[in-house]
Amino acid sequence: MSIIKELEKEVEEKIKKAGYKSENFVFTPSSRPDLGDYQINDAMALAKVYQEPPRAIAEKIVKELEMDNRFTNINIAGPGFINITLSDEFLISSMNKILEDINNNIDRVSGKKIMMDYGGANIAKTLHVGHLRSANIGEAVKRLARLLGHEVISDVHFGDIGRQSGMVISEIKERYPHLPYFDEEYRGNYDKIEFSITPEELGEIYPTASIKAKEDETKMEEVIEITKELEEGKAAYVSLWNKIKEVSIEDITAVYKRINTEFDLLEGESDCYPYIKETINIMEKSGLLEESEGAKIINVKREEDNSPMPPLVVIKSNDGTLYATRDLATIHSRMERFSPDEIWYFVDNRQALYFEQVFRASMLTGLVKEETKLEFFGFGTMTGKDGRPFKTRDGSVMALKDLIASIKDETLKRINIDMVEEEKREETAEMIAIAALKYADFLPFRTKDYVFDPVKFTDLEGKTGPYLLYSTVRMKSLLEKVEKDGIKEISFHKLKGTNDRLLALTILKMPMVLKKSLEVKSLNEIAEYLYKLTSIYNSFYAENKVLTEEDKQLKSSWTALTKLTFNINSLLLKTLGIKVPEKM
Ligand code: ARG
Repeated sequence: MSIIKELEKEVEEKIKKAGYKSENFVFTPSSRPDLGDYQINDAMALAKVYQEPPRAIAEKIVKELEMDNRFTNINIAGPGFINITLSDEFLISSMNKILEDINNNIDRVSGKKIMMDYGGANIAKTLHVGHLRSANIGEAVKRLARLLGHEVISDVHFGDIGRQSGMVISEIKERYPHLPYFDEEYRGNYDKIEFSITPEELGEIYPTASIKAKEDETKMEEVIEITKELEEGKAAYVSLWNKIKEVSIEDITAVYKRINTEFDLLEGESDCYPYIKETINIMEKSGLLEESEGAKIINVKREEDNSPMPPLVVIKSNDGTLYATRDLATIHSRMERFSPDEIWYFVDNRQALYFEQVFRASMLTGLVKEETKLEFFGFGTMTGKDGRPFKTRDGSVMALKDLIASIKDETLKRINIDMVEEEKREETAEMIAIAALKYADFLPFRTKDYVFDPVKFTDLEGKTGPYLLYSTVRMKSLLEKVEKDGIKEISFHKLKGTNDRLLALTILKMPMVLKKSLEVKSLNEIAEYLYKLTSIYNSFYAENKVLTEEDKQLKSSWTALTKLTFNINSLLLKTLGIKVPEKM
């Protein structure tokens, strides 16, 4: 348990001793730091329950608090706000404990088994900017959930079937008609066919095929037919599609890796096929599926709905599967294989209604247990300066690779990495660029849109990834210098100056920030916190000459503060999926 949480529990007891019950007591950081570090506002609420004047209640609570020497400067303001300050001794011992073990500054939750569905890249299409946020946010929430004690299984859930597969195969057929995949007489082993395709060609094939199919009706018919045959398991197409999948997955996961995103499962929509029959059976048994123009639908509307909630089409009239069929069967498969307590989806806001339909259908038909929680966490869009979804100059969707490249250009232009050995420069520039991109993505609340602005994102002075990296690297280099001086004993002995105190108090806020972030599945709180902590550290650093300080105890304390800030920055940046370079 975190030190601050422990203290809160003790205060809760003290309030009880004073004669009142305040459940789940938490400190409120003071809005008037001149009056105290924290304020206790409970007297107001207790006054209503106990029918006593709030000030009288506050006075009784204060009596209890005064017996504890960890609190100083206890005073009552206004109708009954209690201000308290933490004693220097308490802050010092707390900092030492956290330095010893960072777990003293983390509150675990009661761990659950959670499956996370994020990434969602589509096979044979280039990974584009639209998939960036799902990967960034999903990966960071996964790391945070694990840090706070959940068991998490992450799945990329590739879009590996559907019309795009038909389009790509049809285009390959047009370009390479002599391949045995398209020869009905061929009796050999399709998997042994010599044919290879590059990710670059694939990236170009899909848009070409898509335009053709849109413009030409017979082409579209062919695409639909191929898609159907592929789904039904036509060996030639399955073999060709597997080859395409392999090339595409390798290409996509390499880009995911660049943005420090990893999955436990690299499954796709089509992996649910073995579960489809059973899924439909279960759903049928509920008696809730209805026939509609040959398709099977389920009504998911509730009386209290005040916005449209159309029925969900579960399977199409031609027996083929739909996006929804595959999501439902995937839910069944996940329940069967992993039996998670919760499944979290990180997908674009635009799919919010769809997921609500799927979740309701799953609950109504008993695909999941009653207590299983299915949750959708949507996110806003990265836009251009015009407020529209970010595009390339010619108006097409931008590949994630190109987006990273444009940030990297900016990084190299603006940040002097001459400090770094020649052979590490490329890697360092990449780390800074990724930090810039990811940090900017976390700053706005998850559901908000934000503007892509590489110049702003890479600013070394602002609220940016590069600023955090630079500061963190500087902390590290200071620690190394102290170590070179032969100083072994690093711990807190005294606090001096306002920034020392402020830094210690800010460190104690970390558990609250982590908890809040996980609750709302948004990293903005952590991003803001990192900036705040780092800025306070930098003011402290500008004010004090740590390395040349004569007073040994002070030097040790300041070094300890540096180490603690460095440890927290490292932990939180890692949680956000941001790597810190050795030097920059
Ligand atoms: N591939 C989908 C898309 O690009 C996202 C998949 C989201 N996850 C899911 N289980 N449907 O829109």
